[in-house]
Amino acid sequence: MEYLQLASLLFLILMLPLTNKANVHGPPTPGYYPSKRIGSTEFDQVCTNLWGPQHQTLDQGTLTIWLDVNSGSGFKSLSPYSSGYFGASVKLQSGYTAGVITSFYLSNNEDYPGNHDEIDIEFLGTTEDKPYVLQTNVFNRGSGDGSNVIGREVRFNLWFDPTKDFHKYAIFWNPEEIIFFVDDVPIRRYPRKDDDTFPSRPMWVYGSIWDASSWATENGKYKANYTYQPFVSRYNNFKISGCEPNGPARCYLVSGHPSRSRGLSRRQNAAMAWAQNNYKVYDYCQDILRDHSLTPEC
Ligand SMILES: *[C@@H]1O[C@H](CO)[C@@H](O)[C@H](O)[C@H]1NC(C)=O
Repeated sequence: MEYLQLASLLFLILMLPLTNKANVHGPPTPGYYPSKRIGSTEFDQVCTNLWGPQHQTLDQGTLTIWLDVNSGSGFKSLSPYSSGYFGASVKLQSGYTAGVITSFYLSNNEDYPGNHDEIDIEFLGTTEDKPYVLQTNVFNRGSGDGSNVIGREVRFNLWFDPTKDFHKYAIFWNPEEIIFFVDDVPIRRYPRKDDDTFPSRPMWVYGSIWDASSWATENGKYKANYTYQPFVSRYNNFKISGCEPNGPARCYLVSGHPSRSRGLSRRQNAAMAWAQNNYKVYDYCQDILRDHSLTPEC
């Protein structure tokens, strides 16, 4: 008995330095929670199945989509938007998910094939021993099959296990800026510099799970392995509040900033710096293999 108590005391003492690490406690508070400004929307009031209908179910407000050897699945909003806040809570599959991408994004690829705009949140699947990568990306008139594809990828690990619980992910987009939020912590802000680098044509909301074995996991080193199928992603707590290009002139737009119409507060900036310093794993602006004349904002 005494030996056990001593052992657990020793264990605690040994573990103490680990639990003291700042990142165990999560991010500093951003002080402002845009997701709380918006009520949840029922999935089927704003979105509908786009493909893989047999791999998509809606049960008590939670949308489940899955990928197996036959198909993945995707959904799309019923309306396009010219700006807004687009969020959902997402829970990902644990274990081996290499090659599999779960996405939540804005795009107008069906309106402008070959030169569409896109704003992405993509969860890149992984091998059992490594964390998921959350990839954010912005395309302006240069996505798709054209030769002018210019991605603006910034990738993160997360300060929590995204397979354990639902967490909030959101894209905030207006004519001035794009902000990506994770649990209301801004992880990336992409301000508008000019028309060449900023998407401004209306976009639709999409989400999907699909096999991107050619590039998703360590540049395609690890592929989807259907021994582990089905690969299941769950979404709920949809928060979609946008301006429709042909909708009513007045539309409610939540702000990304607690009191101003653009930018981030001091506390939000501190939380973003924390996320970037501790969890950013790739930034296109810092990629020495890239031609930065194509990305003047860098
Ligand atoms: C898929 O996973 C199984 C089980 O771990 C393994 O035996 C098999 O070799 C894997 N297949 C490929 C193509 O890696």
